[in-house]
Formats: sequence, structure tokens, C-alpha cells
Amino acid sequence: MSSDDPKTLNIGVLASGGGSNLQSIIDACETGEIPGRVVVVISNNSSAKALERAGRHGIDAVHLSNYHYPDDEELDQAIVEVLRNGGVELVCLAGYMKKRGPRLIKAFPNRILNIHPALLPRYGGKGMYGVRVHEAVLAAGDKVSGVSVHLVDELYDHGPIVAQREVPVLPDDTPETLAARVLKVEHEIYPEVIAGVARGDINLDDIVEKSRNQD
Ligand code: GRF
Repeated sequence: MSSDDPKTLNIGVLASGGGSNLQSIIDACETGEIPGRVVVVISNNSSAKALERAGRHGIDAVHLSNYHYPDDEELDQAIVEVLRNGGVELVCLAGYMKKRGPRLIKAFPNRILNIHPALLPRYGGKGMYGVRVHEAVLAAGDKVSGVSVHLVDELYDHGPIVAQREVPVLPDDTPETLAARVLKVEHEIYPEVIAGVARGDINLDDIVEKSRNQD
């Protein structure tokens, strides 16, 4: 890259599973929708498909878990070091199943995003992940679900909302059909938000500041 190339955002992704959201971010970087690149993918799960996806795109893929660092703070520190060594400016959680602590959150203030398959603050919090989210939406009889992209703080699914998009719930939905419809929208909104951050159209510091004033 020559020195007069426009600035691109260095993104680090944390993922535990299939990594379809990771893939949507990688693809959007490759097409130029996101003026940025994924520089490292970290997973707590050595067999995560997300790590394979990273490898396929020549992205550093790192397995870091309590197996290596039984102490959560030490694990957070190791994650921070990998992210810093990669020059990461924005951290994106994409189906990362472990709650991280203050070491990581404080190392990237207002720069850690997560995606959640519902309209937070509803259907978020401990234990609300995967198919359980969609089961709860259907059990409540909601006509609308959706996707939330939010900043990460030290509580589950809690930080300020950056963007949300609604997804209809259809009368014959099962948790699986609803999950699939929601996931499709996740693959649109997450790259859009990251692109907005990279271009400077979305100011994460302002979003945090506004949410503090509302508290
Ligand atoms: C997504 O539904 C995301 O909202 C949630 O975990 C799931 C991850 O899916 N946080 P994938 O691994 O990106 O396919």
C-alpha cells in the first residue's frame, strides 16, 4: 500500500462459531463497501468455522481461550495484545460467545461493537443467544423482530445502540425460519455500520456521549 492510499480502518473480529457475519464483513472490505480490512480474527473455539474463513482470506486467525489462559484477565490481556499488534482500531464481536472483561473493554474505549439478533433491549442479556432469542420472540407473539448493532460495555447486550433494523415475524415462523430471515439482515446492517464508522459518518464517541446524557 502506498503512503497516499486513503486511510483504511483496521478491523479485528472476535467470533466463536460459523462466522457468517465475519464473512459479510470480509466481503464488504474486499468489495470496497467498507474502507477497511479485517487484520485478525480471534476465536475461543479452535474448531470455529470463522477461523477457517479467516485463513481462506489470508487473515491472521488466532485461537485464544481459557485453555491457554485460565485466568480471564490474563486472557483479556492476551486478546488485547493480539489486537494491538495487528494495529486494530475497531473490534467487532460477531457471534462471540464469551463475555469479556474490563481489560479488553478499556483497551478499546467506544470501539467495540456487537451484533444481536433482536431489537434490544428486548430479548438480550445472559442466556439470550442463538435460537433462544427467536423462541422468546415467537413465544411472546411479537409481530416484529430485528437486529441491533450496539457498543459493548461490561454487561451482556447492554451498551448504546448504534443501529437497529426491523424484521417481520410471519404467522408460520419457526425459530429457525425467523433466525434465517434475521441473519440475512445482520449481513446487511453490520457491514453498513462498520462502513459508516470507517468513513466517519457514524461517530461512536458521540453515540456514547448522547446515551450518557439520556441516563
Ligand atoms: C448471529 O445471529 C449474531 O447476531 C449473534 O450470533 C450469531 C452469529 O452468527 N451474536 P455467525 O457466526 O456470524 O454466523
